[in-house]
Amino acid sequence: MAEQLLSTAVHDTVPVCYVRPESQRPRLAEVVAGARIPVVDLACPDRAAVVSAIGDACRSHGFFQVLNHGIDAGLIGEVMAVTREFFRLPPEEKAKLYSDDPARKMRLSTSFNVRKETVHNWRDYLRLHCHPLDQFVPDWPSNPPDFKETMSTYCKEVRALGFRLYEAISESLGLEAGYIGETLGEQEQHMAVNFYPPCPAPELTYGLPAHMDPNALTILLMDQEVAGLQVLNGGKWVAVNPQPGALVVNLGDQLQALSNGEYRSVWHRAVVNSDRERLSVASFLCPCNGVQLGPAKKLVTEETPAVYRNYTYDEYYKKFWSRNLDQEHCLELFRT
Ligand code: OGA
Ligand code: NI
Repeated sequence: MAEQLLSTAVHDTVPVCYVRPESQRPRLAEVVAGARIPVVDLACPDRAAVVSAIGDACRSHGFFQVLNHGIDAGLIGEVMAVTREFFRLPPEEKAKLYSDDPARKMRLSTSFNVRKETVHNWRDYLRLHCHPLDQFVPDWPSNPPDFKETMSTYCKEVRALGFRLYEAISESLGLEAGYIGETLGEQEQHMAVNFYPPCPAPELTYGLPAHMDPNALTILLMDQEVAGLQVLNGGKWVAVNPQPGALVVNLGDQLQALSNGEYRSVWHRAVVNSDRERLSVASFLCPCNGVQLGPAKKLVTEETPAVYRNYTYDEYYKKFWSRNLDQEHCLELFRT
């Protein structure tokens, strides 16, 4: 029901259906605040250094930030502005787009998977399919009026960036530059436009609880002013502080499998705060349904036997959405 959207109501207290049991709360005081996840300058002329920095980051953190990524700062500003405007639309306008069916290719929804979960999350989100654009854009919101154009331009740029990163990631694994792009094939692209309203009791709930992304690669455009993303590293939750002009990149489960477990898809979560709303735009590149996945042949040797079996993305994705977000890592179910 559209009444469940957080962005259409004002809450003075956190309703009980959002309150986590004591043992599952974020314990914000224990989060490492001052650390920096690796930053890679893509304009650095030393290609080998860029490739090796990306490889190190994929191994140690599963996350890195990219600077000089080629996406215009003006466009990024417009994406944030049109997103903010969208979530400010009147309730009746948003109600028309509401759905809690994960199979819908365009939906405005809330929390994560309201039909399955027992405790909800302090997030509304607009989920869009983005490739091929001309197939999906007609169904996207037509309000705000420049939503379709701004978001489609951004989608094209993010896709190109994703493919550039695939080349560097392939090379860093000792594979041909084209390996990941070719193996994953013509990829789908999805977007989650996340809106985290201010929350009266951030200690009791999450914007998104700890999860790993089921896709191949995620490129996250974060609010430049309000932090909230946290990444698990060395057993501690580390806050990812917004870095002006940077985009945050993380590996999804499919690249962990392709790398035969050398690179990591890591636990991350979004927390909320009591005084400011926060926005993020997550772009996901993912293989098409029928594509065969699993470790790259070249990475399977006598010393490093296959850690995961082969499977199709369809099989993986169905498994992912049939579970709760914070259960054990979905990829564990595909171990050899
Ligand atoms: C996601 C995600 C983090 C954020 O959408 O998968 O991890 O900061 N988002 O919104
Ligand atoms: Ni995520």
